[in-house]
Amino acid sequence: MAGGAIVNTGGGKEYPGKLTLFVFITCVVAATGGLIFGYDIGISGGVTSMDPFLKKFFPEVFRKKEDDKTTNQYCKFDSQLLTTFTSSLYLAALVASFFAATVTRVFGRKWSMLGGGLTFLVGAALNGAAQNVLMLILGRILLGIGVGFANQSVPVYLSEMAPAKLRGMLNIGFQLMITVGILAANLINYGTDKIKAGWGWRVSLALAAVPAAIITVGSVFLPDTPNSLIERGYPEEAQRMLRRIRGTDDIHDEYRDLVVASEESKLVKHPWANIVKRKYRPQLTMAILIPFFQQLTGINVIMFYAPVLFQTIGFGSNASLMSAVITGLVNVFATFVSIFTVDKLGRRKLFLEGGAQMIVCQIIVGTLIAIKFGTNGEGHLSKAYAAFVVLFICIYVAGFAWSWGPLGWLVPSEIFPLEIRSAGQSINVSVNMFFTFAIAQAFLTMLCHMKFGLFYFFAGWVLIMTTFISIFLPETKNVPIEEMILVWRSHWFWSKFIADEDVHVGKAETEMSNGKPKSDAI
Ligand code: BGC
Repeated sequence: MAGGAIVNTGGGKEYPGKLTLFVFITCVVAATGGLIFGYDIGISGGVTSMDPFLKKFFPEVFRKKEDDKTTNQYCKFDSQLLTTFTSSLYLAALVASFFAATVTRVFGRKWSMLGGGLTFLVGAALNGAAQNVLMLILGRILLGIGVGFANQSVPVYLSEMAPAKLRGMLNIGFQLMITVGILAANLINYGTDKIKAGWGWRVSLALAAVPAAIITVGSVFLPDTPNSLIERGYPEEAQRMLRRIRGTDDIHDEYRDLVVASEESKLVKHPWANIVKRKYRPQLTMAILIPFFQQLTGINVIMFYAPVLFQTIGFGSNASLMSAVITGLVNVFATFVSIFTVDKLGRRKLFLEGGAQMIVCQIIVGTLIAIKFGTNGEGHLSKAYAAFVVLFICIYVAGFAWSWGPLGWLVPSEIFPLEIRSAGQSINVSVNMFFTFAIAQAFLTMLCHMKFGLFYFFAGWVLIMTTFISIFLPETKNVPIEEMILVWRSHWFWSKFIADEDVHVGKAETEMSNGKPKSDAI
């Protein structure tokens, strides 16, 4: 054993240190960055179904909705204009995440978080006070920029701060905050919808300022990560920070590996040009496919359209909001399952179990709807039957909440070497946002054309992604973030892309033969 570092069964070292209160609090504060994203996901669907909101900003849509006499349950709510408004935020976030990459790398992670929080705050004010569609759209663009910056920086920050063996748990704080944001938004919409005077939507939109204020103020007090401090040329501060977050003076090994990683990273002047190099192919593939697959689970059909969907399958409008609250609660509580198991069971087991659970549920839900509505969309659900549908939707949401939900943010944030980490995370965010946008945009039309088959469509995708994970994703639990290359180097497929000279991780490389760890300890 060299220098107190131990290779665990996952193939990585274990550095000395424990979970300190300081690092825990830091991670909780940073994770609140997820609230703004979650709040937005939850709020727009409800607001755009409020009549006073539609009358003021989208009178055409309102008239169409009033005149709508169609009895086809699948094709009721189709309005491209409205979905464009909802999904415009995701396009803004997509673009913003590329700018965030530079801020995060050059100035440090916390400034991206601060910038994200502040921009979101202004967007919330503009939306709450909106007098016309222009203000509304401008506000949404600012919200999108805020989300782009927060989602780019928070997951990376969490993965860098956390000790390797608890990285999964601390990183999933981000997803937990997303789910809390969604639930809070659902509850708020439920309340503001009841305001008779018709300004309830303003309250819903303006309250986005609360999560924005939390992350804005929080990030002012956040320290930067040791990785980022070293990368930006502050070695003493980095050592001090490492001692503080690990709660030990014995930080020598970890510090040395961070310095090696940073020296590597200094050789890379243009992360965007480098990321396409062959040696980064495994990480690049994951940064593109994981967010793509996460959205192709179909989760946002439930998150954005739960009220519409539940109305479609025979609930009244009040009951449908209630059902959205139920799925919101399941989403929050099921996330805890991944928090407590991700560093023990590992990422792969959760991906595979969650995927299987989602496939089964989607097939059941599709079939239940097919039986009642067939292909012409005419029919009515009894209470018991509808409850059954909700039950399986909830089991599906739970499966997502302990697999693709949190892991879709965790895995991409932990697999990149320092020199391309920011760029890689931007790709992750932008692919995620693009497909969030695309699915939001296409869902109502797809439902109208594919009918119950839409659920089978997503089940097919979940089957593909689960197979992909089982073949191509190596386990990353407990592996120190700057040693991740060893995981790819020992993978049966990805090892082809990484030459011996690409592996520079202190002593560990000498312990590898043909990419396989030689023993359990160095
Ligand atoms: C996804 C969102 C989704 C949310 C649901 C997140 O991980 O990125 O698109 O709405 O989970 O909880």
